[in-house]
Amino acid sequence: MADDATLIEAARAARERAFAPYSKFKVGAALETADGAVFTGCNVENSTYGLTVCAERVAVLKAVSEGYRQFRRIAVVADTQAPTPPCGPCRQILWEFCGDIEVILANLAEEKGRHRLKDLLPLPFDARLLG
Ligand code: THU
Repeated sequence: MADDATLIEAARAARERAFAPYSKFKVGAALETADGAVFTGCNVENSTYGLTVCAERVAVLKAVSEGYRQFRRIAVVADTQAPTPPCGPCRQILWEFCGDIEVILANLAEEKGRHRLKDLLPLPFDARLLG
């Protein structure tokens, strides 16, 4: 299991690889699997704007596409004073694959917050409702 500082540092390093020429807002994420592997992601923007993919989703899709289905926590890093939480669509994607994981928010210098996903996405829609 990666310690908090290591996971946050992995998200910071991923942020350096962000492709964000339009917003200039770079984000990094590091997702820890149940067995301690770490998958990172950065935001990847597109000139159409709407096809931009957030750092969190890149990390989740990388892990899922490599066969991982159990996750422990995710660290998200941006260069902001206020915490940068996952956007709504990312919360839904995280819920689908990670359930109620811990979400650690940090900037380049320090941790800025820590939440359970169920608090960020109350009353989620998920497969249980499909019957
Ligand atoms: N972004 C993320 O990658 N994750 C977040 O949690 C918030 C927003 C990206 C999307 C876009 O490339 C840029 O930040 C500005 O919204």
